[in-house]
Amino acid sequence: MAIPFILDTDTAQDDCVAILLGVLDELADLRAVTMVAGNVGFDQQTNNALMTLSVAGALGEVPVFLGCRRPMVREWVSAENVHGDGAGGLSMDITGVSTESEHAVDALLRLTHEEPGELNIVAIGPLTNIAMAVVKDPDFPARVKHLYIMGGSNNARGNITAAAEFNFYVDPDAAKIVFDAGFDITVVPWEPLTVRDAIFSRAQMAEIGAQENPVAQFFQRVCETTLEFDESVGIPGSSHPDSLTVAVMLHPELVVKSAAYRVDIEADSELTRGYSAMSWGIHGLKPNARVIEDVDAAGFFSYIKSMMATKTAPSRAIIGL
Ligand code: RIB
Ligand code: CA
Repeated sequence: MAIPFILDTDTAQDDCVAILLGVLDELADLRAVTMVAGNVGFDQQTNNALMTLSVAGALGEVPVFLGCRRPMVREWVSAENVHGDGAGGLSMDITGVSTESEHAVDALLRLTHEEPGELNIVAIGPLTNIAMAVVKDPDFPARVKHLYIMGGSNNARGNITAAAEFNFYVDPDAAKIVFDAGFDITVVPWEPLTVRDAIFSRAQMAEIGAQENPVAQFFQRVCETTLEFDESVGIPGSSHPDSLTVAVMLHPELVVKSAAYRVDIEADSELTRGYSAMSWGIHGLKPNARVIEDVDAAGFFSYIKSMMATKTAPSRAIIGL
């Protein structure tokens, strides 16, 4: 049976791939997309999400809710130096396309009220919307079946600073609230997991892009800018942390190793802002998350390649594709 979930996203590059999985995988039942401030300008992210739904032929079928336009207490930090516009220069005429009028935080609360204990959330951006929902309604975590989070590093290097991964760095106050809120949580970290098991070489990217259909060509285009950035910082390929997070939920057989951890987020220091301390069980701390340690990298690539082979009829023309 398909897995019902809400995708909370700062749509650019691999967030687009995560949305595609939500629409194309028959095991996915994507109920809503909620937008949160992160990678690139908020309106650009929203257009990227709408365009991605369009490429998959699902524009208008999945509601898109606009959420928090900045972190809870801090200024927004952009990753435009990493992702460009997050869409590889592609665009779509959005005349007449509407997003929902309800705020994403209210939608998260309402949808989980309508189906308590049934909906999963996959959060692949800063955790602002999720934390705001907790602040508004402390019973929210109890109504969420499982929260999958892309963020942090498992006692390893960050990417935006030496200490911190981008999603937790942008809104560490939100991340701290979320890890203390009582959700059932699975974490897909940046290091070492993503950088070891979810990097596609240029040859692999070309292999996917050579498939003759809009989804495959869109995939290659939206990932190109980030691939160049990744290579410039010594990562040998295109990084896919967000789509890996969706894959971990839909295809748990890809997980080779995971363990219970106590995850705490640094929100006071400037030097280590957003650092995720992941205590692995020997420090006497009560676990609050399962952290993915190892996935089947070849299986993950095959899965993405097979999904990007899906033939679709885009809902609207994609300019530049
Ligand atoms: O650090 C990786 C995360 O930040 C991903 O969610 C990606 O979208 C990014 O910029
Ligand atoms: Ca993201």
